[in-house]
Amino acid sequence: MLNNPDLYLSNIFSVGIMSNLKLLNIVGARPQIIKSSAISRAIRTGFSGLIDEFTLHTGQHYDKEMSEVFFDELEIHKPDFNLGVGSAHHGRQTALMITGIEDVILREKPDAILLYGDTNSTLAGAIAAAKLHFPVIHIEAGLRSFNKTMPEELNRIVSDHSSTLLFAPTNAAFKNLINEGFRPENSPPYTIDNPKIYLTGDIMYDNSLFFAGLADRKKSELLESLNIERDKFVLATIHRDINTDDPIRLETILSTLKGLAEDYSMPFVIPLHPRTLNSLKSGLNKLLEDLRSSQYIRIVPPVSYLAMTLLEKNCCMIITDSGGVQKESHFFRKPCIVLRKETEWIELVANGTVRLADASPEIIRNSFAGFMQSCQDLEYPGFYGNGKTAEFIIGELLLLFEK
Ligand code: UD1
Ligand code: UDP
Repeated sequence: MLNNPDLYLSNIFSVGIMSNLKLLNIVGARPQIIKSSAISRAIRTGFSGLIDEFTLHTGQHYDKEMSEVFFDELEIHKPDFNLGVGSAHHGRQTALMITGIEDVILREKPDAILLYGDTNSTLAGAIAAAKLHFPVIHIEAGLRSFNKTMPEELNRIVSDHSSTLLFAPTNAAFKNLINEGFRPENSPPYTIDNPKIYLTGDIMYDNSLFFAGLADRKKSELLESLNIERDKFVLATIHRDINTDDPIRLETILSTLKGLAEDYSMPFVIPLHPRTLNSLKSGLNKLLEDLRSSQYIRIVPPVSYLAMTLLEKNCCMIITDSGGVQKESHFFRKPCIVLRKETEWIELVANGTVRLADASPEIIRNSFAGFMQSCQDLEYPGFYGNGKTAEFIIGELLLLFEK
C-alpha cells in the first residue's frame, strides 16, 4: 500500500501547481459528516494553501445531535451550502438533493466532487455530478453486502459506477470492484469510462486514531454521568431500516438486549437514532417504557462523536447494526455482535471478532455468552491502513487534477 503524503507533496511541487484545486465535499448524514472531518483535517494540516475545499450539506440529517454537533466538536469547515431537504421517501428525498446539488455544481464549477459512503446524499451527488460530466471521487468505494434490498447497496453500486477515482478501504472492497469490471491497470487520463481504483485504508481509522486521546480529555465525566464503569457495560446502536421498520423485529432485538442486561447485571448504553425512537413511539410505547424503567438499560439521545469514541473505548462489547460502529469496535479492540444477516466488512467476521446475529435471540445470546468467555483471546489485526489514508487521497487528487 503506497501511502506516503510526503512523497506526494514533493511530486506536486516538482510539477508546479498554478492555482488551487477546488473540491466540493457532499455530506448529509451523520457518518459522512464525521468522515469528511478526516479529509478537512488532512487539507488543513498537510496541504494548506493548495486546495479550496467547500462543503454542501444536503440536510438529510438535521437534528442538532445528528449534524451540527459534529461540525462544532470535530472542527469541520461549516457547510457553505445547506439544501435542507430533510426526511422523505427515498425518491423524493434523492430528487430534491439532485436538483440542489446540480445548481451548486453549475454555479461553482469545482474541479472534483468528493462523496463519502453509501447514503442517499452519496447517490444524489454521484448522479448530479456524473450527468454534468464533473469527476466524482468516491471514498469508501467497493463495499458490497450483496443484498440489493438494502437501499445502501443500490447507492454504492450507482455511486461507484459514476466515479472517476474510487478509493477502496479494504482488500475485499478492492476485489469487489475488480469483479464488477474495474481495471487496476487503467492509466491516465482517468475518466468515468476509464476510472482509477485504489486500495487505500479507511479514513475512519484516521479519525479514531486522531480523536481517541481527545475523547479521553474532553469527555472524562461521561461514564460517571451514565453511572457505568470501564469494561463493565455494553454499547448498542440500532438504526437500519430492516430493524426499525418492522415492529416485531425491533421488539425482538430490544427485548433480547434487555434480557441479557438483566441476566448479566450489566448496563447497556443505547444512544437512540431518531428513526428508532420514532418507531418505538409509534406502536411500541410499552416497550420503550419498560426499557426506560429498567435498572440496566440507559437509553440516551444520539451522542457526539467524541462521546461515542469514549463509550467504544471503555465498553466490554458492542452490539450494533451500524457499519461505522462495527468497524470502530475493531479499532478499539472490542468484540461485536452485528444485528444483520450480512456485512460489507467481511474481514471482521473472518477474524472472529464480529458475529452476525441477524435478529435471532438465540444467536445474539450465544454470541454474547461466547464473547464474555473468550474476549481475552481475540486478536485485532490492522486491516484498515496506517492512519494516513486521508493524506494519501488528497495527495493523489492534487497529482491527478494538477492545473
Ligand atoms: C441514513 C442512511 C444510512 C445511514 C444512516 C446513518 C440512506 C438511505 N440511509 O439512514 O445508510 O446508515 O443514515 O445514520 O441514506 N430523522 C430525524 N432527524 C434527523 C434525521 C432523521 O428525526 O436529523 C428521522 C426521520 O424520521 C427520518 C428517519 O430518521 O425519516 C430516517 O432518516 P434518513 O436520513 O432517511 O435515513 P437513516 O435511517 O438516518
Ligand atoms: N455515532 C455517533 N453518535 C451516536 C452513534 C454513532 O457519533 O450516537 C458515530 C459512530 O461513532 C460512527 C458513525 O456515527 O462514527 C456511524 O454512523 P451511523 O451508525 O449512523 O451510520 P452507518 O455507519 O451505519 O452508516
